Amino acid sequence: MDHFIYRNGQLYAEDVAIDDLAAEVGTPAYVYSRATFEGHFDRLSTAFRGVNPLVCFSIKSCANLTLLRLLLKRGAGMDVVSGGELYRAMVAGCDPKKVVYAGVGKTDAEIEQSLQAGIGWFNIESEQEFENVAAIARRMRKRARAALRVNPDVADARTHYKTSTGQKESKFGVDYERAIRFFETYGRDEWVELPAIHLHLGSPTYSPEPYGRAIHKALQLIKELRERGFTIKTLDIGGGYAADYESGVTPSFEDYAQAIVPLLRDFVESGGGIIMEPGRSISANSAILVTRVLYVKEGGTKTFAIVDTGMHHLIRPTLYEAFQFMWPSRVPEHLVPKQRAKGMDLSDLLTYEIVGPICESSDYLAKARAIPRVQRGDLLCIFGSGAYGMVMASQYNSMPRPPEVLVDGSSFRVIRERETYEDLVRGETL
Ligand code: LLP
Repeated sequence: MDHFIYRNGQLYAEDVAIDDLAAEVGTPAYVYSRATFEGHFDRLSTAFRGVNPLVCFSIKSCANLTLLRLLLKRGAGMDVVSGGELYRAMVAGCDPKKVVYAGVGKTDAEIEQSLQAGIGWFNIESEQEFENVAAIARRMRKRARAALRVNPDVADARTHYKTSTGQKESKFGVDYERAIRFFETYGRDEWVELPAIHLHLGSPTYSPEPYGRAIHKALQLIKELRERGFTIKTLDIGGGYAADYESGVTPSFEDYAQAIVPLLRDFVESGGGIIMEPGRSISANSAILVTRVLYVKEGGTKTFAIVDTGMHHLIRPTLYEAFQFMWPSRVPEHLVPKQRAKGMDLSDLLTYEIVGPICESSDYLAKARAIPRVQRGDLLCIFGSGAYGMVMASQYNSMPRPPEVLVDGSSFRVIRERETYEDLVRGETL
């Protein structure tokens, strides 16, 4: 699953003791495991090899250049949603032809930038957007390729409402019923070729079953389009494969592949290509956020563990009520966690509100969480923080963002420096 493992009561990232690392780089710090990050990409690619997908890593989940480069070396493409993400992909060295660009609000400047770069696919989200891309392509005399993002009206009921995207009332894509008309109107454009369909259901989609339903609909649509003379060569099945925030509740890459690959085989055997856009399934368990306990205090009926990170560095708990497992970096042998779960079947635990230093009550990392006793100075490690962690971090309360550190075997290096007070005021005038 990942390479964050306790040995003799001490948490290690690969072969580096977290306490040694924290002594050198300070806290808070995002700590990534290279073997985990690359291992997830390899396992996904192997599981889906039957349909030979182009795996476009979803940069929005985790965007550090060093990490992107690791995947590019393994043949990945990139899924981007802004000019800034496209810029990152290019700086990291991505082949522009392996870039897919989704998002409902692409600006003219971003479309020009993408045409200039020669990206692989615009994932088109509306009629007006298609017209705009086509007009800009014509003006620049640059041909483009696009996929129509179809909204399959399929959702996983367990996906948080804030991250569900595949149902009718969401702002994403074009309704299934409008897709044929879309192709009749725009499918023969001189400047923008439209040989592909894009789907993305939501993040995370906790079982393979909704993918099955959505892919079934997409294949039906492709058949109807072919009958009308349109050639669909590529199907992008999106991202959303779940990560192990808790042990043993998430389908593995192999589980997803077992359900999805057979559905796509005919399409691929008839010359079709598959794109996937995984984010968290690769990145989430590849990092922990290491924080230090500043104070422990009693308040009313609760005990608070106040740590040196919070909603400004990891907003998922407060924004989505997301569960992130957290545990001290050093524990007595009998408190080494055997699995990561909401309720841990261990004695000697105390229940804490685990909160940050930000001046508002929404600044919590966990509510009523039973963990081993902690005291001032202890390190607490927040697992599953590699996705939508650092990329969603802010400088709220004028607190610098943490560094990102990459562990590789028994060594580690800082791959993004801790911000300074000068960084906080960069670009401002007096
Ligand atoms: N493709 C598209 C078009 C997407 O919108 C997304 C995520 C992905 C791929 C990657 O999804 P993943 O494999 O990482 O689940 N901030 C939220 C998640 C927002 C996801 C947005 N779109 C969170 O922390 O859970």
